[in-house]
Amino acid sequence: MTQSPRATRRRFLDGLLASAASPVAAAGRPKAAPESDAARASARIAMRRIPSTGEAIPAIGLGSWITFNVGRDPLARERCAEVIRAFLEAGGSLIDSSPMYGSAQETIGHGLAKLGAAGRVFAADKVWTGSGARGPEQIETSRRHWSVARFDLLQVHNLLAWEAHLGTLFAMKAEGRLRYVGITTSEGRRHAEFERLMREQPLDFVQFSYNAADREAEQRLLPLARERGIAVIANRPFRQGDLIRAASRRPLPVWAAEIGCSNWAQLLLKFIVSHPAVHCVIPATGRVDHLRENMGAGVGAMPDPAMRRRIVEAVAGL
Ligand SMILES: NC(=O)c1ccc[n+]([C@@H]2O[C@H](COP(=O)([O-])OP(=O)(O)OC[C@H]3O[C@@H](n4cnc5c(N)ncnc54)[C@H](OP(=O)(O)O)[C@@H]3O)[C@@H](O)[C@H]2O)c1
Repeated sequence: MTQSPRATRRRFLDGLLASAASPVAAAGRPKAAPESDAARASARIAMRRIPSTGEAIPAIGLGSWITFNVGRDPLARERCAEVIRAFLEAGGSLIDSSPMYGSAQETIGHGLAKLGAAGRVFAADKVWTGSGARGPEQIETSRRHWSVARFDLLQVHNLLAWEAHLGTLFAMKAEGRLRYVGITTSEGRRHAEFERLMREQPLDFVQFSYNAADREAEQRLLPLARERGIAVIANRPFRQGDLIRAASRRPLPVWAAEIGCSNWAQLLLKFIVSHPAVHCVIPATGRVDHLRENMGAGVGAMPDPAMRRRIVEAVAGL
């Protein structure tokens, strides 16, 4: 099979990343204070290279659907700001939102303003309107909600009106007003059309559902992303909470300790980010304790293929 230049470049960069794992993971970050778990996680969190540029991003990101849709309730907003603080302290960067998520964008904007952190996140949002003409206006409203200078990544949400929106996003990228362009889907919807766009459009990112219980993407989308040199964001890692709730009713398998997992969240997330085509997983949470558990999945040993099979079997038995 002929390799695309992106795929060749990706393999080269992956080699560099693997051969210098900890120096790259720690690049540009302050040295960890010995007493701080967050700082230790920050220094060691697994990084992945975006194939189209080689830029490294942390493998654990943060979703915002439902959990950050808290309206203007001041206490709830402060709680979400603390989640963002803990996320950044643990070395996180990519936050994902959408105009579809109620007040989530404003909650993120409030947190970033409070923490003075608008320049420290990898801001990933979406365009979600059936009208191509309304796309630019919606994107500008979203940007104001986030209070960022520009988005790092904009994705066409659920492929809605993709013909019109992709033109807008590629034009923004060409003008330097956007860094990366992507598309999203979830729960296995429209995979055939999604696959066609992955083949035909110069996408930087794709986002779809992938976890140890929902593995359809292993058949076509994940191998295709590798072949085409497209970065992958995995959404719904906990099936919107159902998977982690079911898992938490069972004892954690003793062998989870072999890859440094002390809870189910870490086992489920490590399964996802150990797939070689996945660049970032975006669990959503409104709780600092859960956030810290999730960020722990970016640290330490990752499951090998045999351990990945054990995780699938354990999840099938839930
Ligand atoms: N088409 C699309 O573009 C699309 C579709 C779906 C999702 N997404 C993106 O993907 C993100 C993630 O998906 P999701 O929000 O559907 O759900 P998810 O991340 O699979 O699950 C979120 C749920 O898990 C719980 N949780 C998180 N960490 C936990 C932990 N350590 N222990 C126990 N419970 C935990 C959260 O509750 P607590 O608040 O109590 O922690 C929340 O109820 C979304 O937020 C969104 O950004 C995109």
